[in-house]
Amino acid sequence: MSDGGSTLVSGIGELVTCDGSTADPLGLRHDVALVAQEGRIAWIGAGSSAPAADRHIDLGGRAVLPGFVDSHAHLVFAGDRAQEFAARMAGERYDGGGIGVSVAATRAATDDELRALVRARVAEMREQGTTTVEIKSGYGLTVDDEARSLRIAAELTPETTYLGAHVVPADYAGDRAAYLDLVTGPMLEAAAPYARWIDVFCEPHSAHAFTEDESRAVLTAGRDAGLGLRVHGNQLGPGPGVQLAVELGAASVDHCTYLSRADVEALSSAAGTTVATLLPGVEFSTRSPYPDARRLLDAGCSVALATDCNPGTCYSSSMPFVIALAVREMGMTPGEAVYAATAGSAMALRRRDIGRIEVGARADLAVLDAPSHLHLSYRAGVPIARTLELPGLTDSKGP
Ligand code: NIG
Ligand code: FE
Repeated sequence: MSDGGSTLVSGIGELVTCDGSTADPLGLRHDVALVAQEGRIAWIGAGSSAPAADRHIDLGGRAVLPGFVDSHAHLVFAGDRAQEFAARMAGERYDGGGIGVSVAATRAATDDELRALVRARVAEMREQGTTTVEIKSGYGLTVDDEARSLRIAAELTPETTYLGAHVVPADYAGDRAAYLDLVTGPMLEAAAPYARWIDVFCEPHSAHAFTEDESRAVLTAGRDAGLGLRVHGNQLGPGPGVQLAVELGAASVDHCTYLSRADVEALSSAAGTTVATLLPGVEFSTRSPYPDARRLLDAGCSVALATDCNPGTCYSSSMPFVIALAVREMGMTPGEAVYAATAGSAMALRRRDIGRIEVGARADLAVLDAPSHLHLSYRAGVPIARTLELPGLTDSKGP
């Protein structure tokens, strides 16, 4: 819990604010200090005019940015699918079929085993500068296993997402309609108390995933239960996911690997409402073409970056890795990638108290062992990013 004290952080060589106060969305400030109090930013200004504080940290010229917001992650799973990854590197295609392997292992795990796995993954993220993570269910796929997945996730983050519609599990393979009834009925009822969001794997290119009509039924049932909407769309090929997300006013449509001109136009007209969340760790881990971030940015779409950390398509928890991929492979500038991984991803969670550094925002900060945000992609693979741990700031569920 917060001890109520204040902390002065000085020696910030570069402060990435993302606060909208300058023409450059990054809102860079140099040679500044800030004061954090009770988990919030209380003051920002020149170090020479800093108010007194209970503690003092001198960062010696390091860069500080908003803690990364990882708005798409599937952390509640047991088991290992490294062999599936190796097979893909040898030429196998990904079609979602391996999800069943993780479902079996997750169902077999005890609550304590599952909790320990999720906690370790969240801690791994925090060590790399991620201060908010969205966690999905989706490897339980029974009423009880989805509810417990979300119960465990909710111990660690307020951004929990019910993904009973991840795939049709093997036990319902012969009766998709019955599984849909379960997902939109008793499973939703059991999951909703622990979930802020609902998501669906809308993907005509996988026999395991859900069609447009099935996805619409899932999302509208979730909306009626008071959940916000998110969509896995256009991952394996062109599909209806983006249009459906925009039609229903979803907060985010994630993957966006294969987009038509109409999809880009729809996302452009929905800017500020429906964010295109790009997950380049997936393209890396499935040997797929990367989404065209440049096209989306040039069309004025809202763009976020996230890891999609999961046992199948990307078992990386690293936002710096995602930023480096976005810069090298997707045509984003280093600044655009940092913005998408902080303020952009916060927008995908409809949050204004994170992903930016301004007075009143949460004091969720990342610090780099480097003088500027450029180093995140310039020094790819080097662990320069970490969460700036401040006294009194670990009082909420985090990251
Ligand atoms: O976001 N596409 C659906 N779900 C995950 C992969 C899940 C898995 O393969 O275990 C994704 O890529
Ligand atoms: Fe995903």
